[in-house]
Amino acid sequence: MSHERIANTFDAWATTGRGEGMEKGHGDVVGQIIPQLGIGPGDQTLDLGCGIGWATRALAKVAAGAGAVGVDISKEMIAKAESLHSFTIRARYEVMAFEDLDFKDGHFTHVFSMEALYYAPDIDKSLSEVLRVLKPGGRADIVIDFYADNESTGGWSDTIDAPMTWMSEADWIAKFESAGFENVTTTRVIDSRGPGEEADFTPSKVYPDWASRVRFHEAGSLWIHGEKSS
Ligand SMILES: C[S@@+](CC[C@H](N)C(=O)[O-])C[C@H]1O[C@@H](n2cnc3c(N)ncnc32)[C@H](O)[C@@H]1O
Repeated sequence: MSHERIANTFDAWATTGRGEGMEKGHGDVVGQIIPQLGIGPGDQTLDLGCGIGWATRALAKVAAGAGAVGVDISKEMIAKAESLHSFTIRARYEVMAFEDLDFKDGHFTHVFSMEALYYAPDIDKSLSEVLRVLKPGGRADIVIDFYADNESTGGWSDTIDAPMTWMSEADWIAKFESAGFENVTTTRVIDSRGPGEEADFTPSKVYPDWASRVRFHEAGSLWIHGEKSS
């Protein structure tokens, strides 16, 4: 039922151009992080909650012979990702839930995710699936904007029809560690383009005033890293 609700919400986002909007919104931060992921020749990356697949394609282009698979519960997001497919990039896409990944144990060297894991109705099960599909020594790099230390995001769940878990940075670290990840670290990544221009700002339910928009920008995206024991 929760998955159906998530799929309905993001199907609607996909058909109204919000997939492309997220590429614009998240692209700077993801562009800063991908070169730091240590993806090498032949590595295989899973992109959890890939949306229209722009980050999946970027992950697959990082090194010679590297590949990436994007998964998403929204059929419309995956259809859009497939329509943007390139024959020169080793990326493919599947409709799939984080909690039930249809890949064999140890299939991936890397798992990446941008702005998706907090929607999972069962984050613990999702993290245990991430650990299972990683090879020994593989790494998970999960990035989120909706977290409790970024106070301006507190109202987002009133505007999106999907389950959303608002946890602190410390809670995320604890979740990764209790799932069995090692060397868990966090980093805040600030969008290098700044918060925008106050003159162009329009208040909304998400950012009721300019100060909340600036606080959101200053808190940055939370990048949580963990590794599977080798
Ligand atoms: C905010 S969008 C981010 C999309 C993409 N990563 C981007 O930055 O453009 C979150 C995506 O996660 C997907 N999603 C949320 N919960 C999911 C789950 N439990 N299993 C699979 N996909 C899920 C949604 O369908 C949606 O496309």
